[in-house]
Amino acid sequence: MARLTINNEVREIDIDPAMPLLWALRDHVGLTGTKYGCGAALCGACTVHLDGEPVRSCQVRVGDVTDRKVTTIEGVAGRVARAVQSAWQRLDVVQCGYCQSGQIMSAIGLLEQNARPSDADIDNAMDGIVCRCATYVRIRAAIHAAARDLA
Ligand code: FES
Ligand code: FES
Repeated sequence: MARLTINNEVREIDIDPAMPLLWALRDHVGLTGTKYGCGAALCGACTVHLDGEPVRSCQVRVGDVTDRKVTTIEGVAGRVARAVQSAWQRLDVVQCGYCQSGQIMSAIGLLEQNARPSDADIDNAMDGIVCRCATYVRIRAAIHAAARDLA
């Protein structure tokens, strides 16, 4: 049994504490916005926030986060999240969409820490969040647009 706080809701889930958080979110809580890509920390599709910090949920054991706050794409809220979501829509960033919850969670994490990121800051923060549709140019432009909106 594990007690998790996900999107500000406490959940008691009957699972092995060694289970990766990604599996718990998708298969036991039904939050399928967070995607499985590789299961090996190589793609970033599974990115969620742990106490506000982007992490790869395929690499986090449920038993290690029982005292922490998990936020998924379904639960993001606040000024920065709204600015990112708005910029993503205006710039029509998404292509197939598979990688995009990981991209958005990472972008929110960046802008929460750095209100005016440079191209290099963006490349560094988004490094390894793989987009097979190669939306990288629009992602960078949308992060700059969100930063301008937040200024
Ligand atoms: S599924 Fe976690 S990094 Fe690819
Ligand atoms: S939008 Fe298709 S993988 Fe990124």
